[in-house]
Amino acid sequence: MILMKDITRDGNPVLRKRAAKVTFPLSEEDRELANKMMEYLINSQDPEIAEKHQLRAGVGLAAPQVNVSKQMAAVLVPAPDDAEDDTPIFKEVIINPVIVSHSVQDAALAEGEGCLSVDRNIPGYVPRHDRITLRYQNMDGETKTIRLKGYPAIVCQHEIDHLHGVLFYDHINKQHPFTLDDPDTVILE
Ligand code: CO
Repeated sequence: MILMKDITRDGNPVLRKRAAKVTFPLSEEDRELANKMMEYLINSQDPEIAEKHQLRAGVGLAAPQVNVSKQMAAVLVPAPDDAEDDTPIFKEVIINPVIVSHSVQDAALAEGEGCLSVDRNIPGYVPRHDRITLRYQNMDGETKTIRLKGYPAIVCQHEIDHLHGVLFYDHINKQHPFTLDDPDTVILE
């Protein structure tokens, strides 16, 4: 299983590289990697397993974060706490993802963003698109086109950034971290 020691940290050049496209059918190695990345997210969101293995909770993990420069990321956005069933809002390994279109409206998380590869807390708004149309391939090589809004859209944009060598704090206004260039940006609590 993937542990915190396996996760590449800010400063590692792999996090600043543009990742290579993944070819299909998936190699056994790529399939295992995809499964292990999703397993990390599942484990990290389980309080007992996370405590036992000292896993920091995550909703997304991109292959460069485990030192593999390929366009693959696991995303697991859990059901809200008050939901009647625990079906995740979004659970998928997205491969070769592309944002094919997006809203003019931006959005940012009120609490800023964090990253398993960044050990420091870096405060500030990270402006993202509020809605995106995402095209990707799943593990079976099927091309999917989906629309996402709000939090899951932000998570996917954070992960796709990892595949392009971008980290969340690159988007924060350096002088005024809680000032947004676009005053119409939605702040998500
Ligand atoms: Co990250």
